[in-house]
Amino acid sequence: MGTKAVKIMETVLRDGHQSLLATRMRLSDMLPVLEAMDEVGYDAIEAWGGATFDTCMRFLNEDPWERLRTLKRHLKKTPIQMLLRGQNILGYSHYADDVVREFVLRSVENGVSRIRIFDALNDVRNMESSFKAAQEAKAHIQGALVYTISPYHKVSDYVQLAKKLADMGSHSIAIKDMSGLISPYTAYELVKALKENVKLPIQMHSHCTSGMASMAYLKAVEAGADIVDTALSPFAESTSQPATESLVAVLKGNERDTGLDSDKLNKLADHFRVVKKDLIKAFELNAAIDIDPKVLSFQLPGGMLSNLLNQMKQQGAEDKYPELLAEMPRVRADLGYPPLVTPTSQMVGTMATFNVMFGRYTTIPEPIKDMVRGKYGRLPGPISDEIRHKIIGDDKVIDYRPANDIKPQFENLKKELADKGYPNAPIEDVLSYAVFPDVALTFFANRAK
Ligand code: CO
Repeated sequence: MGTKAVKIMETVLRDGHQSLLATRMRLSDMLPVLEAMDEVGYDAIEAWGGATFDTCMRFLNEDPWERLRTLKRHLKKTPIQMLLRGQNILGYSHYADDVVREFVLRSVENGVSRIRIFDALNDVRNMESSFKAAQEAKAHIQGALVYTISPYHKVSDYVQLAKKLADMGSHSIAIKDMSGLISPYTAYELVKALKENVKLPIQMHSHCTSGMASMAYLKAVEAGADIVDTALSPFAESTSQPATESLVAVLKGNERDTGLDSDKLNKLADHFRVVKKDLIKAFELNAAIDIDPKVLSFQLPGGMLSNLLNQMKQQGAEDKYPELLAEMPRVRADLGYPPLVTPTSQMVGTMATFNVMFGRYTTIPEPIKDMVRGKYGRLPGPISDEIRHKIIGDDKVIDYRPANDIKPQFENLKKELADKGYPNAPIEDVLSYAVFPDVALTFFANRAK
């Protein structure tokens, strides 16, 4: 058992509102309490990356880079953390190395101190570029293990992965349990094994989706986890993280007491309770998301299951829904057990739907073919010759780092943007355009008004 204080990363400015309120929190909602947040003594505040970048431009008419700079001006002591999808940056496909490098350098220059880097398939080759850039920028690199359950994701597999990430230069390791699948006892076992085998701080990140995260955090703390991710209560629980104030209260007086002041946290929570009400009204959002232990069977968040059901209804095939539920885990097994996180969750869901509606592997979406061709990276488990042949015939499967096939893009993007009327765009704008071209162009046009 550890004897140090448990450190807290506050997620209310990123994952909290991304999980509960479609990432709609505005900079103006944050500004009144940033100084107070800076005084709490959080280990870090997660405030950038994930879906915030896209949403800023798409829905809030905010420049994500400007938001970052403003946050940095007000958060003088507490490091700002961001979430980065490795070679995918913040998008859904691989980018060239020069774009990844520039994005990471500029993120740090504009205010990010810590970067959590992950790859949907846990293929470390898709993380190399961003690791190198983060090293160059002298940022804290947090290598993330994407947590899932399968025969190829045993505790020992995660220990091996964490060792690789340590060798690549991680300063800390995060367990990223995006669907809230980790059980308290597995959390204990995994954190213990990581602490024994990797000499780096271990950070626990989960979601309350299945109702287990608070228990998993406590067991992770007992096993020696150094840092846990929590959100202030108005943006906690349900599909978000456990509540900051509750965890602080649980550990109070214990040998791993966080040392954080509950009064300060309560005042912050009061502010965000009002913000939540405002956002629900302003954007007509539904914040009453039930926990969904079914996620443990299907590994797909409930929202996605109901989307698939709606799709089948539209096709007049709703009677096949039970078949779909059975098909989903089969497809995942056929494809070598990818963790189900963006973009693999959507891909596996679509493939399973097609199989049920049109016959197994008769209609195959292109992204699934690319996945089998190795273009998303190495799959955790094997694919049988039979399945591979059905999906890609005799196409070649690559065994090298997928981004090796991508030529430098940055200069072209700059030229493209100049052709569209922005000849002297700052590098930050070029990067916004690189990651979300259409959204960025619309945003640039609106910003000019
Ligand atoms: Co999360």
